[in-house]
Amino acid sequence: MKILVTYLSMSGRNEKIAKHLAEYLKKSADVDLEQIVDTDAYGITDYDAVIVETYTYGDGQVPDEAQDFYEDLADVDLERTKFAVLGSSSKTHIHFGRAVDYFTMQLNSSNGEQVADSVKIDQDPDEDDMKRVERLGDYVIKSLK
Ligand SMILES: Cc1cc2nc3c(=O)[nH]c(=O)nc-3n(C[C@H](O)[C@H](O)[C@H](O)COP(=O)(O)O)c2cc1C
Repeated sequence: MKILVTYLSMSGRNEKIAKHLAEYLKKSADVDLEQIVDTDAYGITDYDAVIVETYTYGDGQVPDEAQDFYEDLADVDLERTKFAVLGSSSKTHIHFGRAVDYFTMQLNSSNGEQVADSVKIDQDPDEDDMKRVERLGDYVIKSLK
């Protein structure tokens, strides 16, 4: 089974989480780890599952660097490709983790199959957050068996 973890990180939190998740998943699957800016939305269906991770920017927005990917997803039929979404953002903002919500809606709209509840992390991940991340990974793996 082949899983793509694609992430966007400005100050490093999401990068750290994505790397942790990818290492965790590698115990059970083939995992590609890449950045959203390098990810071709049309290539996602090559994978059994895709995990998208992003921070939130502006006033609860999908970051500019992720816009192309986000918009391209609208034109892709994910053909029930399994997916999950997560991200570190900040509760100091009114629209906490809104980009996670936008990606979740977009992937659902594109006919993907959400296999784990989306996970929002407040700023730096603590041990409990990393457990939530691993649990998300467990759900993805379980959905592929
Ligand atoms: C200018 C600016 C705007 C932000 N806007 C939001 C926001 O609307 N909602 C939110 O939840 N977090 C917001 N954040 C917080 C980031 O999403 C958060 O710091 C995140 O952990 C950064 O992840 P990274 O370290 O992977 O880049 C904003 C941060 C900055 C610098």
